[in-house]
Amino acid sequence: ESTLGAAAAQSGRYFGVAIASGRLGDSTYTSIANREFNSVTAENEMKIDATEPQRGQFNFSSADRVFNWAVQNGKQVRGHTLAWHSQQPGWMQSLSGSALRQAMIDHINGVMAHYKGRIAQWDVVNEAFEDGNSGARRDSNLQRTGNDWIEVAFRTARAADPSAKLCYNDYNVENWNWAKTQAMYNMVRDFKQRGVPIDCVGFQSHFNSGSPYNSNFRTTLQNFAALGVDVAVTELDIQGAPASTYANVVNDCLAVSRCLGITVWGVRDSDSWRSEQTPLLFNNDGSKKAAYTAVLNAL
Ligand code: XIL
Repeated sequence: ESTLGAAAAQSGRYFGVAIASGRLGDSTYTSIANREFNSVTAENEMKIDATEPQRGQFNFSSADRVFNWAVQNGKQVRGHTLAWHSQQPGWMQSLSGSALRQAMIDHINGVMAHYKGRIAQWDVVNEAFEDGNSGARRDSNLQRTGNDWIEVAFRTARAADPSAKLCYNDYNVENWNWAKTQAMYNMVRDFKQRGVPIDCVGFQSHFNSGSPYNSNFRTTLQNFAALGVDVAVTELDIQGAPASTYANVVNDCLAVSRCLGITVWGVRDSDSWRSEQTPLLFNNDGSKKAAYTAVLNAL
């Protein structure tokens, strides 16, 4: 196959990309994105601050620009993200307790209703665990509403759109030996045992010198899949874009039957939130990097 999306489809998987609405007027950007990828995540446009800037007043203008571009070009969409400590609008940042809990529920219902039946996977909750060795939940206004906020979010999401796969998504959870990975594993196991509706776990996979790729990533993916959830690589970028590491990540996903696909967090290095790390598959001029060829050959 000659594109990432078509190559991934040979094994029933997708190869996706994060799209920024502000770049959709750049024809170099859109031609690469349209040619190579068959799944789209909105880089920022479906987040809480973008979709509900004032309480109860939803705005899908930017989100729909990304969504419609994706659908009109035949791509599936990963929804990102419904409940998160970051990129909250000001009104939500200042809420707490039962008012915040209700606002979270209302937000999930409002956004999921708009896209009902049209989103393949939703990141229902993003980044709820602390970094470091504690294995604890991250402190946030949402966490302070009660430890059950995550399961409430998932139950709300299931009722709002039963056709979407519901994912928990986080970073620094790719290395099986990290405490954060174990904490996430224990939560997913508990959810499956108690019937909390969760279908998938997203591994952001922002690899760099501080949190490098480790070959036990495949073990991590396998162990989560064995709990009865799908897994996905949701925001892949790798500092310096070493071809061999990109190939390793692809091979890890391909080795796990429940690995749905891989999404890279941008098109060209210049599109990356970490552009100084040159972590993506395309150069700034749109040409393919060595990592691109390694990924295509591995798929
Ligand atoms: C990042 C975007 O890429 C940036 O444009 C924005 O300024 C901050 O958020 N984890 C996530 C993503 O789940 O939503 C983040 O995206 C990167 C880290």
